Amino acid sequence: MTPVAVLARGLTRRFGAFTAVDHLDLEVSAGEIFGFLGANGAGKTTAIRMLCGLLPPTSGQASVAGLEVGRRSRDLKRRIGYMSQRFSLYDDLTVVENLAFFGGVYGLSAERIGQRSALLLPQLGLDGQQARLTAALPLGYKQRLALGCALLHEPAVVFLDEPTGGVDPLARRRFWDLIYAEAAAGVTVFVTTHYMDEAEYCGRVSIMVQGRIAALGTPSALKESTGARTLQDVFLQLVER
Ligand SMILES: Nc1ncnc2c1ncn2[C@@H]1O[C@H](COP(=O)(O)OP(=O)(O)OP(=O)(O)O)[C@@H](O)[C@H]1O
Ligand SMILES: [Mg+2]
Repeated sequence: MTPVAVLARGLTRRFGAFTAVDHLDLEVSAGEIFGFLGANGAGKTTAIRMLCGLLPPTSGQASVAGLEVGRRSRDLKRRIGYMSQRFSLYDDLTVVENLAFFGGVYGLSAERIGQRSALLLPQLGLDGQQARLTAALPLGYKQRLALGCALLHEPAVVFLDEPTGGVDPLARRRFWDLIYAEAAAGVTVFVTTHYMDEAEYCGRVSIMVQGRIAALGTPSALKESTGARTLQDVFLQLVER
């Protein structure tokens, strides 16, 4: 049996009287590419922040990479990577300096950071860009660098919150090649996107509507069960309902 990489049971977060995430139940297997879809404000980022241990839930439980979220948070941090929606690269650092900074945050030695960077830079298509100031990079490059920063410490599970927002179709496809390579290497990928072509690349997707999972399954199963022709139509049916 494939081990469970991400598990949520009744995971709930309220902000005052408003419920942003409402009893989220999920199970994602190790090595899966799971698409976490939903309209703006559906609660995706809030759920991811809870799964990463960055935001305490109001109620419910979660476990990620075999650890209960909320306990042993240092161990949890080592097992997960997080690329936030507004990714947190330092514009005034160079490419390698950003990698070194994030490696340091994850407690990697300088030697390990050097080894991992040497391996990742060509994979990310950033060879020759080492000394460039991050501020001067095109957005597609910044996104690949942010992915590299999230993968440097070899996490078991990586959370990517709208990693391809605003980049061109070619850059998006290159980014997805990297996601596939990570998943093939056994990394669990939990990714949000508003691009339905990307949703089609996922093994399974969930569609969140106002804090709740309204649909969950493989892209083809969701189309079949709703009679929709495209995943975009499935999405629109659920969100407009
Ligand atoms: N700290 C907060 N305080 C109050 N409300 C919040 C807070 N964080 C998020 N919310 C609200 O919770 C809801 C869900 O927000 P969230 O950012 O999780 O949505 P999302 O699905 O990630 O949307 P998007 O696709 O735009 O990124 C929104 O209505 C948002 O305004
Ligand atoms: Mg969000």
